[in-house]
Amino acid sequence: MLSKAPRGTKDILPDQIYKWHYVEKVFSELCRVCGFDEARTPVFEHTELFRRGVGDATDIVEKQMYTFEDYAGRSLTLRPEGTSPMARAFAEHRLYAEGRPAKYCYEIPCFRYEKPQSGRLREFHQFGVEIFGSADMAADAEVIGFAAAFFEKLGVPGVDLRINSIGCPACRAEYREKLRDFLRPAYDGLCDVCKSRFEHNPLRILDCKSEICRGLIEGAPSILDHLCEECAAAFASLKKNLEWMEVAYTVDPGIVRGLDYYTKTAFEFVYGSIGAKDTLCGGGRYDGLIAEIGGPSVPGVGFGLGIERLLLAMDACGAEIPKPAPADVFIAALGESAKPAAVKLTRDLRGRGLRAQMDEMARNLKGQFKYADRLGARYTAVIGEDELRENRVTLRDMLSGEQRPVALDRVAAEILQRH
Ligand code: HAM
Repeated sequence: MLSKAPRGTKDILPDQIYKWHYVEKVFSELCRVCGFDEARTPVFEHTELFRRGVGDATDIVEKQMYTFEDYAGRSLTLRPEGTSPMARAFAEHRLYAEGRPAKYCYEIPCFRYEKPQSGRLREFHQFGVEIFGSADMAADAEVIGFAAAFFEKLGVPGVDLRINSIGCPACRAEYREKLRDFLRPAYDGLCDVCKSRFEHNPLRILDCKSEICRGLIEGAPSILDHLCEECAAAFASLKKNLEWMEVAYTVDPGIVRGLDYYTKTAFEFVYGSIGAKDTLCGGGRYDGLIAEIGGPSVPGVGFGLGIERLLLAMDACGAEIPKPAPADVFIAALGESAKPAAVKLTRDLRGRGLRAQMDEMARNLKGQFKYADRLGARYTAVIGEDELRENRVTLRDMLSGEQRPVALDRVAAEILQRH
């Protein structure tokens, strides 16, 4: 028990971490060029934030939150998602006073008590971006285009973009009634989860994975035929903006999302072949959220992208992730007298930005060479008695096997020059 991580969590060990560093670098570079500034919010928030933001009637709030009382009796929750905390920070720090739109990005751990399986964890990580302050569909297209560019940069083909509009509270309420009317005769056949959704959240029935429910919703009215004028115009504008950006999409009225704050735009990027869950990225517009949690009435739009799922997809499609060599150079000291020079050289090379390693296990020279090999060092610099006397090293190129003398104060330049 003690030697096992909690169910639904995963260690990220050094043999995997380079993949994380790689996608993080690509994400933050894309954020930089697109003008999204990073913000970091706390891992836990007041439970009420998610009740109000994500919504009481959602799976997340009903049964997936890690909620606890602190010693002062406050109810706190490990964040299940990143949008409500970002909206809370935006309102709390009055960031709306700084001009619009405000564009933020984040990388966060999230926590949901779900049944773990491939691509579904209890602690998982998200990249996210949010734009606050624009009601124009150019903002929706900006976040969608960002995600499309991200997948392209990472070399993940076959990620399909599905878009939908779930309307505003007014036209959605009317549609909900129409959907209930359609489903009522089939009510008894629905799965238990959908039966409970029928009253408080019937749109989520469109999203059910059960074959029986899928059959029963066939021919259901589409929300897209029931949008009010403003929402219909917004959806047309979104499609136009995506076409200008040359982002391919499929309109899918089945995209309804599992969080209550969405209005108008809802979208998902879906990848074909990973595990039971295949949505790599989901997002949409949430024009009422900031006001709902006590801030001013400011519209917003954004997405969350699951990093574990992204890496599974990258593995599945064989996307290339450059693996950094663990060391540039190994400094091998032959005998006690060479050690001070080896220590100094190691420090100097590190000062020049080279990944330099030396023996820390009192190995003999043969052992040191073996270790240099295991580290995958590109060069080995040997310092023995002759080298000490002549103020030099013997620099061995571990790829070609070639070796030659190099003055101690030239070692860094020599390696950097060949890099
Ligand atoms: P979400 O659809 O709940 O949206 O999550 C976004 C992404 O997080 C999913 O597409 C998936 O890749 C990943 N994800 C969700 N749950 C898990 C899990 N249990 N294990 C592994 N990965 C998971 C949101 O969270 C919204 N805050 C997105 C958003 C931002 N909407 C507007 N702005």
